[in-house]
Amino acid sequence: MSSEKPGGIDDSSRCDETLPRHVGFIMDGNGRWAEQRQFPRTRGHVEGAESLRRLLRLASDRGIPEITCFALSTENLQLRSQEEVDFLLDLLVQHLQQERQEMERLQVCFRAIGRHQELPPRVVEAIDDAVRETADHRGIIFRLAINYGGRAEIADAATAAVSTLSPGGRPTEEVISQHLYEPAMPDLDLLVRSGGEMRLSNFLLWQSSYAELYFTDTLWPDFAEDDFDEALAEYARRSRRFGSVPTRAPGADA
Ligand code: FPP
Repeated sequence: MSSEKPGGIDDSSRCDETLPRHVGFIMDGNGRWAEQRQFPRTRGHVEGAESLRRLLRLASDRGIPEITCFALSTENLQLRSQEEVDFLLDLLVQHLQQERQEMERLQVCFRAIGRHQELPPRVVEAIDDAVRETADHRGIIFRLAINYGGRAEIADAATAAVSTLSPGGRPTEEVISQHLYEPAMPDLDLLVRSGGEMRLSNFLLWQSSYAELYFTDTLWPDFAEDDFDEALAEYARRSRRFGSVPTRAPGADA
């Protein structure tokens, strides 16, 4: 890393192919963590937010250029009690405010994807403030998926893509990807899901087409440095082929 500020990432110097460029996280297990301790579910979310705070520091330390974390799915917002939804939204606002200093120190560039503009004004304002105030930071890109659904993103992108076509034109993959929430976002290299379930839950469906999947039983509030490093080590052992045949043994020097 050649940046003078902590966390600054100079992408041109990246030569370690075994390190993922973009990692996604489905942060599952907050509720079960709380239930196991006979705490209210909300306490699990508070601990989950603490785990997210640790993750950002770890990912920045390890030189990961981008992470995207599933904070709130559209389904979470529709199917959970109003009390839990309000709690999660307040926690998000608080989290973004409390992390501001750390985002400055680590030069984190914060972004959000999803239909978050439909959320209550206090939430939209907190998200917009964090995006604006960190836009010039050159360290890790930290993205939260908020009021996000992968199918909705693809459907919206396809609709927008079709509207740009001349008569008889076809919406190619390239044109659709140009209309995703953040067209320049690279595909996921690694998708990590905590909490023991093995599914994608409508997260970054387009961008995870060739992602390496990593599932752990660890509940999100317990997700710590060793879990993160194990996910990275497992990624380094995988042989990525993108539909072709292997060109190098996983972990080989040449
Ligand atoms: C899944 O746990 C987690 C969520 C629905 C929300 C993710 C939220 C956090 C990690 C807290 C930090 C978030 C913000 C907004 C800063 P679950 O409740 O589905 O757990 P369960 O499967 O054990 O019930």
